[in-house]
Amino acid sequence: MSPYIVDPWAWQESWDRQQEAYLPDREHRFTAMLDTVDAVLDGRPPRVLDLAGGTGSISLRTLARFPAAEPTLVDLDPALLAIAAASLAGRATIVTADLGTPEWRSTLPHQEYDAVLTATALHWLPADRLGQLYAELRDVLRPGGVFVNADHMPDDTLPELTKRLMDRARDRRNARYAAGSTLSWSDWWERAGADPALAPLVAQRHEIYPTGHSPEWNPPVSWHLAALTAAGFSEVGTVWRGGPDAVVAAVR
Ligand SMILES: C[S@@+](CC[C@H](N)C(=O)[O-])C[C@H]1O[C@@H](n2cnc3c(N)ncnc32)[C@H](O)[C@@H]1O
Repeated sequence: MSPYIVDPWAWQESWDRQQEAYLPDREHRFTAMLDTVDAVLDGRPPRVLDLAGGTGSISLRTLARFPAAEPTLVDLDPALLAIAAASLAGRATIVTADLGTPEWRSTLPHQEYDAVLTATALHWLPADRLGQLYAELRDVLRPGGVFVNADHMPDDTLPELTKRLMDRARDRRNARYAAGSTLSWSDWWERAGADPALAPLVAQRHEIYPTGHSPEWNPPVSWHLAALTAAGFSEVGTVWRGGPDAVVAAVR
């Protein structure tokens, strides 16, 4: 039985603020992502795979923009998935699966998707696994469908400037924590762990992710474009850039 979360929107709001401390232009990259979906629509409501979707940020924005869309959200974190399930309330299929192994595909409710969307997540996977996953994602897309990945993807022609941009961003983030305008990643998890409905799920999560955070492997955008080309996509490129972050798209 799903846990009773008193107000899932309160958790959505605090998750958004916590993520925006890392990504002040987070909504811009979601808009670029959904503009890209819009560009490949074929007249039917889009089937969208929200990969490593967490609390459902992408599924919720997809439904706001395309109300008849059919999102499938895949993630491994029981606490974030419980918040997603309570917020999406039956408007998305929610799947628990580990993207670290190819078996995740067998959990999907559909054979083919119009779009696979992911944000701030695939840097949790090691390089060799991410290359394999890109090939698996090509296979779950219909011909003409699109994969879009928003993440920290520095421009490798600007190594020194990128370090300075990241230093400034870290200083601004720390200033926001100091002023109490948002929760840090660890404080957010501490709050979730103190909530009676989420506490047992947060305890499970700590077993799934013993270090509590991602390995933070962040190759430059050129690595992603080369890996997507090697995975067999027909067109690959950058649809949005903001400082050291980018949104890359790949068309099957
Ligand atoms: C920073 S969150 C981003 C969530 C969401 N895309 C967003 O933008 O709010 C990263 C997500 O990746 C998920 N994730 C990391 N490794 C995973 C794996 N091996 N399988 C499934 N999900 C994974 C985490 O559980 C988490 O929900």
